[in-house]
Amino acid sequence: MFILGLESSCDDCSAAVLEERPGGPRVLSLVRRGQDDLHAPYGGVVPELAAREHLLQMGAVVREALSQAGMGLRRLDRIAVTQGPGLVGCLLTTFSAAKALAWREGLPLVPVHHLLGHLNAARIGRPDLPFPALALLVSGGHTHLYLARNWTRLELLQKTRDDAAGEAFDKTARLLNLGYPGGPVVDACARAAASAEGPFTAPRFRDGRPAWSFSGLKTAVRARVIRDPDLARAGAEDPRVRGLCRGVQDTIADWLLKPLPAHREATGARSLVLSGGVACNSTLREGAAALAHPEGLVLAIPEPRLCTDNGAMIAAAGALLAPAPDLLSLNADADLPLT
Ligand code: KG4
Ligand code: ZN
Repeated sequence: MFILGLESSCDDCSAAVLEERPGGPRVLSLVRRGQDDLHAPYGGVVPELAAREHLLQMGAVVREALSQAGMGLRRLDRIAVTQGPGLVGCLLTTFSAAKALAWREGLPLVPVHHLLGHLNAARIGRPDLPFPALALLVSGGHTHLYLARNWTRLELLQKTRDDAAGEAFDKTARLLNLGYPGGPVVDACARAAASAEGPFTAPRFRDGRPAWSFSGLKTAVRARVIRDPDLARAGAEDPRVRGLCRGVQDTIADWLLKPLPAHREATGARSLVLSGGVACNSTLREGAAALAHPEGLVLAIPEPRLCTDNGAMIAAAGALLAPAPDLLSLNADADLPLT
């Protein structure tokens, strides 16, 4: 089965062609146009600009994905598209395009929940993953730990009560004037650091329920820059900036991974999936690898191009889900729940 997967829930415009075979999925093409330059002056994604850019880009992105896969629309068996959650204008642009394309070509359309997409990015490299699995999905919009019963069923175990981990990376970079998106540049600075600043105080919750919080970490970095305003001008070569990035990165990775052994114990999970843009982070990847083996967990971390938002993960999820029975009445949903 050949699937065209489309994703534009935030600032990445992406299309991919995936072949679903008995042995698992294979990516035939993956095209992604980011918008970092467009949003860099604002230090974060401007929803209206992002949606307009998707409108301009998606046609060419789809044509390129099909051409790299060496096929036309006629060879496709279905189209999979992100239905939500995400920025509503961004979702609507590509969802409408997918509906029109499916209707014109007489192809089944599969609406996909964005987080099922991030989970299924791991299926591309590890189709044989043992379940249940702990799925740590971390991006600019999400910091959620799920118990995956299989590739299409997620049950929430724990999430952030305020900011996503990706926001903490982006905000740190913004406070230090290192550019946007913040994750890759903070990661590069952290790797070049000779020492780490910190430790930062971990948040505690009065009700004792497992959760994360990253807004305090953001404030701690802000307070640090107010104490030493030179940090905002020093740049990525400065040892103090590097040390601060290393401290922030070590802290985020530590906080994200710390609750996993207790959840493994409570759920009997057999594997660990790490996905979403923040799963590109070097410290987090190393930490997850160090934790998985002693915990007896099979580890699945997709290659970086499949961790950030992309059409291949949507196609991989769309291969397993039922097509929509009534194409034209369907719509994108910015707050789409997991069912
Ligand atoms: O999954 P994604 O592409 O889009 C969303 O759904 O949000 O994730 C984007 C996020 C951004 O916050 C970006 O800074 C972060 O992923 N990110 C990283 C790294 N690469 C991207 N965070 C930490 N370390 C990285 N190497
Ligand atoms: Zn995402």
